[in-house]
Amino acid sequence: MSLIDGRAIAAAIGQAVTARAAALRASAGAVAPTLAVVVPTRDEAALWYVRSIGRAAGRTGVDCRVLQLSEPSEAELRTTLRDLSADDTVHGVICQTPLPAGLSLSEVGGDIDPAKDVDGASPVSLGRLAAGLPAFAPATAAAVLEILRREQTPLTGARAVVVGRSTVVGKPVALLLLAENATVTVCHSRTADLAEICSGADVLVAAVGRAGLIGADFVKPGAVVIDVGTNPTADGGLVGDVDASAVAGRAARLTPVPGGVGPVTTMLLLRHVVTAAETATGTTVT
Ligand SMILES: NC(=O)c1ccc[n+]([C@@H]2O[C@H](COP(=O)([O-])OP(=O)(O)OC[C@H]3O[C@@H](n4cnc5c(N)ncnc54)[C@H](OP(=O)(O)O)[C@@H]3O)[C@@H](O)[C@H]2O)c1
Repeated sequence: MSLIDGRAIAAAIGQAVTARAAALRASAGAVAPTLAVVVPTRDEAALWYVRSIGRAAGRTGVDCRVLQLSEPSEAELRTTLRDLSADDTVHGVICQTPLPAGLSLSEVGGDIDPAKDVDGASPVSLGRLAAGLPAFAPATAAAVLEILRREQTPLTGARAVVVGRSTVVGKPVALLLLAENATVTVCHSRTADLAEICSGADVLVAAVGRAGLIGADFVKPGAVVIDVGTNPTADGGLVGDVDASAVAGRAARLTPVPGGVGPVTTMLLLRHVVTAAETATGTTVT
């Protein structure tokens, strides 16, 4: 088995994003591609992720505005997202999870203009994705497909199994794989015979949040395994949903955690911002 280098893929995407951001800034309108990140809690992991987005944005020439809110009401949060959607100087809007208790991203995400919904949070974006219409997919789901594409993984007619059915990862990954003509099975916590179903997959995507759930008996020999899971360890590290050492003798390719899907996700978020800025300003960059 060999590991897929997500950092190298992110670096390659980053080069193209940097060039496109520079071209926007050099265009007649001097457009500064701008991402607004709404942070409605002080969750440590969320703040760490937002800082990493800010650093990557800085490296690629995307402006990143962070709006830290203090336990906003639903109405306040929705107004903030609507105001940013109406702001011509902002091209992409994301709302960082977790949200304050009782609020759901599927609900408030509907206040983000789909044209600026660079992390696919709006149900309109998910609906458009399902209908095969242009839309921003959630960056993590887009990252899974980008990795498979760059790995030249055959998808047409391939058996793909996605473990996890969340709106932000599992469902959009399944839709994107379907659009690539894979035969897709979606599994979840109530799935019977999970290992048996997974072991038939040419492409296995784990998006669960259970460290080491995917063991050797889940993996078909020669399968490509994409590990989306991020599970904190007691010593401050991070592990995925896949038991990497257990599947090493069976999988052909595996994304590590960290260093797999995560860095590609961040870079695709920024690519979406640049695309949104190009579209909004009618700036075509070749
Ligand atoms: N690398 C990245 O950029 C990135 C981005 C986003 C998320 N993540 C990580 O990806 C993982 C999934 O995130 P998420 O937001 O999709 O999580 P989520 O909303 O909690 O969804 C988890 C899914 O896993 C299913 N599940 C739970 N236990 C299971 C089990 N024992 N067997 C089979 N399925 C099981 C759940 O089934 P039910 O629907 O039946 O409850 C649910 O569909 C997390 O570790 C998260 O941190 C990584």
